[in-house]
Amino acid sequence: MTAPTPVKKVPIHLQSAQNRLYIKHGTVVNHDGHFKADVYVEDGKIKYVGPGSDFVVPGGVKIIDAAGRLLIPGGIDPHTHFQLPFGGTVSIDDFYKGTRAAVAGGTTTIIDFVIPNKNQSLLEAYDEWRSWADGKVCCDYGFHVAVTWWSKSVQKEMKILCEERGVNSFKVFMAYKGLYQLDDTELYEVFETCKELGAVAMVHAENGSIIAKNAEKLLNAGVTGPEGHELSRNEEVEAEAVNRACIIAHQVNCPLYVVHVMSKSAALELARARQRYNGVGIFGETLAAALGSDGTNYSHHCFNHAAAHVLSPPLRPDTTTPECLMKFLSHHKAADIISSARLKGDSVFGDVLTGAIGCSLRDVKPSASLYYITSPPIRRDPETPKKLLKALALNHLQTTGSDNCTFNKEQKELGKGDFTKIPNGVNGVEDRMSVVWEKGVHGGLIDPCRFVAITSTNAAKIFNLYPQKGRIEAGSDADIVVWNPTATRVISASTHRQACDFNIFEGMTCHGVPEFVIVKGRVCVEDGVLRVAEGYGTFLETPLSPPYVYNGINGIKNGDDESTNENGRNLNIEEELAIEI
Ligand code: URP
Ligand code: ZN
Ligand code: ZN
Ligand code: ZN
Repeated sequence: MTAPTPVKKVPIHLQSAQNRLYIKHGTVVNHDGHFKADVYVEDGKIKYVGPGSDFVVPGGVKIIDAAGRLLIPGGIDPHTHFQLPFGGTVSIDDFYKGTRAAVAGGTTTIIDFVIPNKNQSLLEAYDEWRSWADGKVCCDYGFHVAVTWWSKSVQKEMKILCEERGVNSFKVFMAYKGLYQLDDTELYEVFETCKELGAVAMVHAENGSIIAKNAEKLLNAGVTGPEGHELSRNEEVEAEAVNRACIIAHQVNCPLYVVHVMSKSAALELARARQRYNGVGIFGETLAAALGSDGTNYSHHCFNHAAAHVLSPPLRPDTTTPECLMKFLSHHKAADIISSARLKGDSVFGDVLTGAIGCSLRDVKPSASLYYITSPPIRRDPETPKKLLKALALNHLQTTGSDNCTFNKEQKELGKGDFTKIPNGVNGVEDRMSVVWEKGVHGGLIDPCRFVAITSTNAAKIFNLYPQKGRIEAGSDADIVVWNPTATRVISASTHRQACDFNIFEGMTCHGVPEFVIVKGRVCVEDGVLRVAEGYGTFLETPLSPPYVYNGINGIKNGDDESTNENGRNLNIEEELAIEI
């Protein structure tokens, strides 16, 4: 795969109204299955998914040949901060550049955060953020709103945002003491309000009071560089807050989505809570950054390199964290893992129960071996059954975001001499899909269906955009990525489309390249060439009471077992994790 081609920005009024598109010979991958099919798109919607032989292609239609390619639902990044005012500066990717980069990487929907200042009206902040985004976004977008202070008026505004402004999720901070941090009573009341409204509560889980004490001590001891960032907010500090947030939400039976789970310890607390509550009402997100980078970067000799990796919660020095978090994201039936290997073109395991799980080919007696002859054959790797078992039971984390919040060198330098002043945030909106594919599917830990679930479908379900988004099916929005699973590209700040001057995934070779990206029927990436339309995206109103989230809370069984931890709930989590980690 060649390096990305420079961006060509074409004014929206000059773009041809290519409203009909036929994609043939591809393999459609949804979270629950994959099959060969042609896809017909008209006026921004998917109109047909099925065998080419059953469909008469109208004349004058643009045709894309997707032989050997996967057709996946466009990515949904549920966590971005475009042009966020933070730490005395503003993040450098705005709603145009940020969504343009998203589209380049195969993400066709983003959900950003409105973060009001203390004492600012939530409605006023929402209007401000809308004015920054509308007219600029190249793909559809939604908003979560942060509750950064608490009063009766804030509570009233939450209701208005839900009922009149298309918001269904609110983020609270347990960190950033003196700025955004709420105390436990306030968390309790916000969660209670979310529950009453049918909204999804989201939490930034780190103990801000401990962080403030640790930071003060470190600075007094002369630790002023970026290494102090992780030291002041170590794994325990995150894990304690995850546990506390889950408990507080459970007191009022409010569904909780824990954003940016960054450590093993925090993921473990989340998994324990999911197990305690039978998988009901607790959801977890991790970040491309956590899967594709680690905290050893904080001890880099160059301030700019180290500071570029500063985000909160931080990356962890334990270098086994990325793989462990990917395992927490995995969740698949053996059958899917087998077909995944086939999709990737690998030789494949045998029968689900015996060949794949029960034993490897090495254990099979010669007389019985005929029984295991499948095509392609069972893998000879004796570790295979164990690996499969590991992958079967998880689903402890459900989504991957980017937390894209980019600052350039000069902005990061605001924290030279005091790590607490380094603006928090990293890149990821462009590379999230590639990094998750590389570490997950190419790394053999998840299959392409699970890839679709954790990069798109689960976010669509949790924030109630499904099946308009997150699925390739007649009736859904035509947000489609033609994904080449065998092509590779190398990530670099010198070729990325993001506005920032640093890329935390610099030099990573990624298998899996978005060759075509179709945003609501519009071909925005064509053979690697990016042609976005500024203002083409629209604001997505997210309806209240997402069934995927609220059915469990209300005692209704979802047909879809992925909303609960069913596969995992009979396992002893400590035992399971002893195998896992
Ligand atoms: O470091 C981060 N994550 N910056 C953005 C703000 C937040 O807490 O998500
Ligand atoms: Zn946060
Ligand atoms: Zn964030
Ligand atoms: Zn699958």
